[in-house]
Amino acid sequence: MTDLRIDRRRLWDSLMELARIGATPKGGVRRLTLTELDRQGRDLFSRWAREAGMTVEFDAIGNLFARRAGSDPELPPVLMGSHLDSQPSGGKFDGAYGVMAGLEVVRTLNAAGLRTRAPLEVVSWTNEEGSRFVPTLMGSGAFAGVYALDDLLGQRDAEGVSVREALETIGYAGRAQPHPVGAYFEAHIEQGPVLEQSGTTIGVVQGALGQRWFDVTVTGMDSHAGPTPMEVRKDALLAASRMVLEVNRVATSHPDYARGTVGSMQVKPNSRNVVPGEVRFSVDLRSARDATLSAMVEELGRRARAIEAECRVAIEMQQVVYFPPSEFAPELVGSVRAAAGELGLAHRDIVSGAAHDAVYLARIAPTAMVFVPCAGGISHNEIESATPEDLAAGCDVLLRAVLARAGVARAAVPETRP
Ligand code: GLV
Ligand code: MN
Ligand code: MN
Repeated sequence: MTDLRIDRRRLWDSLMELARIGATPKGGVRRLTLTELDRQGRDLFSRWAREAGMTVEFDAIGNLFARRAGSDPELPPVLMGSHLDSQPSGGKFDGAYGVMAGLEVVRTLNAAGLRTRAPLEVVSWTNEEGSRFVPTLMGSGAFAGVYALDDLLGQRDAEGVSVREALETIGYAGRAQPHPVGAYFEAHIEQGPVLEQSGTTIGVVQGALGQRWFDVTVTGMDSHAGPTPMEVRKDALLAASRMVLEVNRVATSHPDYARGTVGSMQVKPNSRNVVPGEVRFSVDLRSARDATLSAMVEELGRRARAIEAECRVAIEMQQVVYFPPSEFAPELVGSVRAAAGELGLAHRDIVSGAAHDAVYLARIAPTAMVFVPCAGGISHNEIESATPEDLAAGCDVLLRAVLARAGVARAAVPETRP
């Protein structure tokens, strides 16, 4: 068993085949959650899971659970997973790697005729990205009981389509109920530069930054771009622009991995010769310390009040996502570190700047993550890239850590399908 390794080629080929669904001209993926392309990705994963001898179920928010029985049905399952949805201009690996790595672990066990004591489940969580529907981490948040299901089902995208309607359209509104989880492992590309720059193959993830997301509405007044004197304008876009600078300043002036991003903006009426009367934009604040995150929000709020007065507008900030910095389970984190060590892989402890479904799973079960490098640390970009070798190394670590947790049944069972 110590010699057991995943099949690098099979993992890579599966990732490449999946990446054809929603492929973009620059080599990335556009597979927004709960769209027709997402359905195709889900269908492919479900087919592969069934071919690997698993049963597939989905719950009311569309989370997909592929289950491989263990020898002891009394034990709660050990979960591996991530997400199949992507950013509008995303890459081939963000999320997809964690799901395909879980599938590869099962295929490897099948080929070796090994059964675990605890059941295994490979999971794909709905709407991890949070770009079509807010909140981010929707499926894992629902599973962990963070959100009320009805609230989530009523969320609407920019075109007014609700989560409920989108789920029904693609046929993934299911009935599976939340169930106990023995442990959760998520493999993911790092999405930052630390591993690559330090020449390290495996990131042993300690936890993730806390986040606060806001929908901000600036209300001014539409007026004519010519006759309206500068000193009386109620220019919502001018105020929004100043807020963008403040978000950046607040993040750069705070410690603890503080981050601040405005990534989306809508200007009304969006005409060249009209002083804009309304602007809506998003704010994404992050930090490794909850108190720092609060201080950032407070400071941004203060600056908003000053900008309101100076620009003669109203600024309303509505919080739409909040989770404090998370810490993963030391014993599981230790098993990831031990697995990397046993495999002779260069590894280091790391903090995740990105959100992951592991953040919410950590509230209900021991949780850990495995990171592998991505080229230039670039992600949420079509050019996102990772090597077959690094992806395989992360999957080997996942396999060992999962076996350590799930246990190996004494009598090996012959498996028919690879
Ligand atoms: C998830 O992709 C995030 O925003 O960190
Ligand atoms: Mn991801
Ligand atoms: Mn992402």
